Amino acid sequence: MKDVLQQLEDRRASARLGGGERRIDAQHAKGKLTARERVTLLLDEGSFEEFDMFMAHRCTDFGMERDRPYGDGVVTGWGTINGRMVYVFSQDFTVFGGSLSETHAQKICKIMDMAMQNGAPVIGLNDSGGARIQEGVASLAGYAEVFQRNIMASGVIPQISVIMGPCAGGAVYSPAMTDFIFMVRDSSYMFVTGPDVVKTVTNEHVTAEELGGARTHTTKSSVADAAFDNDMEALIEVRRLVDLLPLSNREKVPHRPFFDDPNRVEPSLATLVPASPNQPYDMKELILKTADEGDFYEIQADYAKNIITGFIRLEGATVGVVANQPMVLAGCLDIDSSRKAARFVRFCDAFEIPILTFVDVPGFLPGTGQEFGGVIKHGAKLLFAYGEATVPKVTVITRKAYGGAYDVMSSKHIRGDFNYAWPTAEIAVMGAKGATEILYRSELGDAEKIAARTRDYEARFANPFVAAERGFIDEVIQPQSTRRRVCRAFASLRNKRLSNPWKKHDNIPL
Ligand code: HXC
Repeated sequence: MKDVLQQLEDRRASARLGGGERRIDAQHAKGKLTARERVTLLLDEGSFEEFDMFMAHRCTDFGMERDRPYGDGVVTGWGTINGRMVYVFSQDFTVFGGSLSETHAQKICKIMDMAMQNGAPVIGLNDSGGARIQEGVASLAGYAEVFQRNIMASGVIPQISVIMGPCAGGAVYSPAMTDFIFMVRDSSYMFVTGPDVVKTVTNEHVTAEELGGARTHTTKSSVADAAFDNDMEALIEVRRLVDLLPLSNREKVPHRPFFDDPNRVEPSLATLVPASPNQPYDMKELILKTADEGDFYEIQADYAKNIITGFIRLEGATVGVVANQPMVLAGCLDIDSSRKAARFVRFCDAFEIPILTFVDVPGFLPGTGQEFGGVIKHGAKLLFAYGEATVPKVTVITRKAYGGAYDVMSSKHIRGDFNYAWPTAEIAVMGAKGATEILYRSELGDAEKIAARTRDYEARFANPFVAAERGFIDEVIQPQSTRRRVCRAFASLRNKRLSNPWKKHDNIPL
């Protein structure tokens, strides 16, 4: 008996060693943690239960039968994050460069299937040289098996990818189909074709970091949702994110004890909106002052900064926030911000996370760049996402809500449940100056007349009361009591039931 126990321990020790001390040292020398160290940091202490520790590949080409390390380059299993169950896979770069073989893929698929069945998120820690070259098409098949599961799991369980090393070629498409992608600065990259191929085909000289590093994907491409300085920071942030999310679409959002008075009044908000309509202010201040304990988890903070997306808690429960940011492009909607917010709204709706929208939007950004780039179709994404969402939706217009952008930003007409406005709100087809210049074109030569017309227009339309008269605004509220009003609104919507007509799926303008 003792021998057998010892054998088990020996086998486990061998599996835990992955590709061996030399390769572990090389991993550390690059500033990267090993696959197992990452799992240990991600999960609650002692909570990890491993699957398939002894699985090995079955490849017999290129002498591979002589090298069959346990685990085959990926550590899989489940554990808890602050007591809540998650499934995890962590690619082990020390074993064949973390490359994906048929067996490696089977291990990932197994935990994805279990996560779907048992209703818990999947977190993938990616660090891989891509398809296991020695296995050829068997490896490609393995990728496709993972892809198919990513697709089926979308909207059922949250899927989170952390890119902690190479991720290239078709391998990028598994993370791309997950809900959130985090990257580690300087040690991770993602691209479909690498710098060498780019050089050959387009004659562009670009480094891996420039082509697909964390900065590129969080500021230019929007492929990644956030970037962190090192493995440890990235894993801590994944824990924070998981804390905010429901475990699956079968569950309500998590409720956490809170220590912030829902009736808290914020006198400073009374002066947040400047006297001049052209002066910006920081919408984040409103978000932070509304949130429980001023805690805001921002998503895509460095991309399309004219719109802010992220999660807060109100009375302990998660709420998704979408807010125009007057500090950037005056808060205009454009292609990038529409895409960013639409994806966020759809995530929230898929997982029954209520949505709070703060509006200060002068309209859609004009220009050939926008029109040629398809702002019509991209803007429609956000409109579509809000309109199809059945979760509780509470909207507060702080200042401008002009034109089509007013309709888009979770207005009453697309099933906003509570539509509030501050007294500083201006809800109209367009700004006063633009409107008078069109309506009174013949008087344009007379500056005094035009100024008077503009003042008239402002007095008539640049306020929330025209919309309130029609019931499009439910109530004009004091800025300082925004938190109280919003908390009460969401509390009243806890049992909201609304469903869309049956369809196979919609046809959102992609
Ligand atoms: C098998 C691989 C491998 C792979 C790396 N290794 N990639 N083994 N299949 N794809 C092995 C190496 O042989 C080496 O083994 C160890 O992993 C570490 O690799 P190094 O090259 O020493 O590491 P480094 O210098 O850090 O470079 C990492 C790398 C490079 C940039 C990822 O290894 C590389 O370019 N690999 C090939 C990438 C690739 O072309 N993959 C296929 C892409 S196509 P030893 O024994 O020396 O430790 C693809 C299609 C997916 O992925 C399609 C899905 C639909």
